[in-house]
Amino acid sequence: MMKPSIMIGLFHFVYYMFILSNLAHSSSSSSSSSNPHCQAWLVQSIPTNMPHLFHVPGVLSTGDVLSWMAGNSTRRLDIIAQYWELLASPDDPRSGDYGYTQQQMQEFGAQEGAALYQALEEAADRNVSIRLLSHSGVYPKFTLEPSQLAAGRPNVENVTLLLKDWWGSGIVHAKVWISDSRDVYIGSANNDWKSLTQVKEVGIYFADCPTIANKVEVYFNNLWKLASLNSSDYTKTVFDQTWQVERKVPCWSHFIDPKVRCKSPLPRDVETPRVTGYPILSDPHMFKVSIQTPGINNSTMLPQVSYLSFAPPELLFGKYQADEQAWIETIKSVGMKETVRINTMDWLGQSEFMDPTVFWPSLSTAISEVVFSKHATVKLLVAYWAHNINNTDQYLKALLYTNNLCSSSKFNNCSGKVEIKYYVIPGFNMTGPAIKGGSSTGNIYPDFTRVNHGKYAVSDTRAHIGTSNLVWDYFYTTAGVSFGTYNTAIVSQLKEIFDADWNSPYAVPVPVQELEKVHTRSI
Ligand SMILES: *[C@@H]1O[C@H](CO)[C@@H](O)[C@H](O)[C@H]1NC(C)=O
Ligand SMILES: *[C@@H]1O[C@H](CO)[C@@H](O)[C@H](O)[C@H]1NC(C)=O
Ligand SMILES: *[C@@H]1O[C@H](CO)[C@@H](O)[C@H](O)[C@H]1NC(C)=O
Ligand SMILES: *[C@@H]1O[C@H](CO)[C@@H](O)[C@H](O)[C@H]1NC(C)=O
Ligand SMILES: *[C@@H]1O[C@H](CO)[C@@H](O)[C@H](O)[C@H]1NC(C)=O
Ligand SMILES: *[C@@H]1O[C@H](CO)[C@@H](O)[C@H](O)[C@H]1NC(C)=O
Ligand SMILES: *[C@@H]1O[C@H](CO)[C@@H](O)[C@H](O)[C@H]1NC(C)=O
Ligand SMILES: *[C@@H]1O[C@H](CO)[C@@H](O)[C@H](O)[C@H]1NC(C)=O
Ligand SMILES: *[C@@H]1O[C@H](CO)[C@@H](O)[C@H](O)[C@H]1NC(C)=O
Repeated sequence: MMKPSIMIGLFHFVYYMFILSNLAHSSSSSSSSSNPHCQAWLVQSIPTNMPHLFHVPGVLSTGDVLSWMAGNSTRRLDIIAQYWELLASPDDPRSGDYGYTQQQMQEFGAQEGAALYQALEEAADRNVSIRLLSHSGVYPKFTLEPSQLAAGRPNVENVTLLLKDWWGSGIVHAKVWISDSRDVYIGSANNDWKSLTQVKEVGIYFADCPTIANKVEVYFNNLWKLASLNSSDYTKTVFDQTWQVERKVPCWSHFIDPKVRCKSPLPRDVETPRVTGYPILSDPHMFKVSIQTPGINNSTMLPQVSYLSFAPPELLFGKYQADEQAWIETIKSVGMKETVRINTMDWLGQSEFMDPTVFWPSLSTAISEVVFSKHATVKLLVAYWAHNINNTDQYLKALLYTNNLCSSSKFNNCSGKVEIKYYVIPGFNMTGPAIKGGSSTGNIYPDFTRVNHGKYAVSDTRAHIGTSNLVWDYFYTTAGVSFGTYNTAIVSQLKEIFDADWNSPYAVPVPVQELEKVHTRSI
């Protein structure tokens, strides 16, 4: 047996070597990674029949981009999806598409999903090595499409990964495509025909960017590995001090006491001994890449700082930051008296699927902080649609109350503010199958359509494009990926996308009188 003092010495030595090698790694990657060919475009899906929405020039369409990625893929295509419904099912009485005519489906744009599915079949037939990783899918098709792509093709692998087995709840929710370790899509669009033409989506497409593709691929490989492990051998139920709740986590989680933590079986992981929880990294890994932005006229070729962030934190590797930190720091990147714009489908200051419920003030606190001390304006655009979370309103009202607090003393000299609007896509309240139980429902769009589904934030200096809804579960039990950057061209175009929505007639203010009513009643 070694003496404890030698062991501690050895431990420190190994730990410092680890830090040194990391530093060496990050400095070499920032000097050598300026890939002159790396190009990026912002990507959107815009639902049909929104005539009053200004279309920002230079932004690509999701359907085109994903079809090009499948079409251009020569060696390998890796896809992370929550579920697959690229092929519409108007003839299946169990489907939310049921009962619409062929002509209506054309008007809805369903053929774009079919074309994308076909592009994937063609890639599969070209012997591209395809890996499809998804959650178990949704009713009624579940894993039908990835299974059919894989059936009889040794070059296509399909895997279901249930995060519930690892974190007690949660799903694979990242939407990521990686082609030939070079081209990447990260954004809000599901592998669903509706995500191309009936749901508003925002993402980013990189072409010829191995630097970025390789980093995202490490995360993909970690999820892929997780899917092959027996979760009961690698999970523990512990008391999570940070969120004050007992819950199941992977045995290498930092929510577990370091003394009983296991070594992560993932190929790439980071060990930070002696720390419990996932404290904010003071120096998260960022990389300088020159990114050409052909969709933006006055683009810059100066290498600017970018980053990736991931959820849940147990799947971090290298010195990457957790997705929650990246969102918070994007909010806090706002300059004095400047504006930060936030777009999300869901907003809640708590968990949605965790039992017991976790209270989660992380993002609302960051917002209140910049309103107070930086006199910032925070514009928050939240979806209003057929499947709203009931208590969203209460949390939005609580956030709006920041304005009352900020102006509650003249010493605050408050000029910052929170502004919130709901995004209402026409037809949102008439969605569902056209026919149910043999009779007409009066619905005019299929189910789960007519919603603003993008998840991003942009300040005057920094843009963050993610796949997570702004609810606790997405950051702690659900798989998500974000790309963020200080690239001035991307920042300015993402602002334009937000402003086009915010200034459209589809964005309506959350009534402040409602808030005041709640306030007087509680006094
Ligand atoms: C770039 O500028 C040209 C000429 O002013 C204009 O026609 C085009 O729409 C602009 N493109 C973008 C992406 O802003
Ligand atoms: C390959 O991608 C480019 C854009 O990057 C696109 O114009 C082209 O159509 C794609 N090719 C195929 C076969 O999809
Ligand atoms: C398909 O690709 C694999 C390797 O990626 C190769 O071993 C196999 O021979 C290829 N099959 C055909 C029919 O080209
Ligand atoms: C993958 O596809 C095969 C058919 O090729 C199917 O039998 C299997 O259930 C699928 N696996 C998963 C995990 O979806
Ligand atoms: C997983 O491990 C548990 C306990 O070690 C065992 O009982 C179970 O059969 C394993 N499941 C699979 C699918 O191997
Ligand atoms: C949400 O509201 C609906 C309608 O008032 C109600 O039926 C449902 O139980 C509520 N759900 C939750 C989780 O509170
Ligand atoms: C309050 O804010 C105004 C305008 O931003 C500024 O001119 C003034 O100096 C501030 N007063 C104090 C006491 O900080
Ligand atoms: C749907 O919402 C619109 C506008 O919000 C409203 O005018 C209309 O009456 C609603 N329709 C139904 C069927 O609820
Ligand atoms: C591009 O030009 C617009 C309008 O002049 C400006 O607001 C924006 O900051 C510029 N973007 C870059 C990347 O210089």
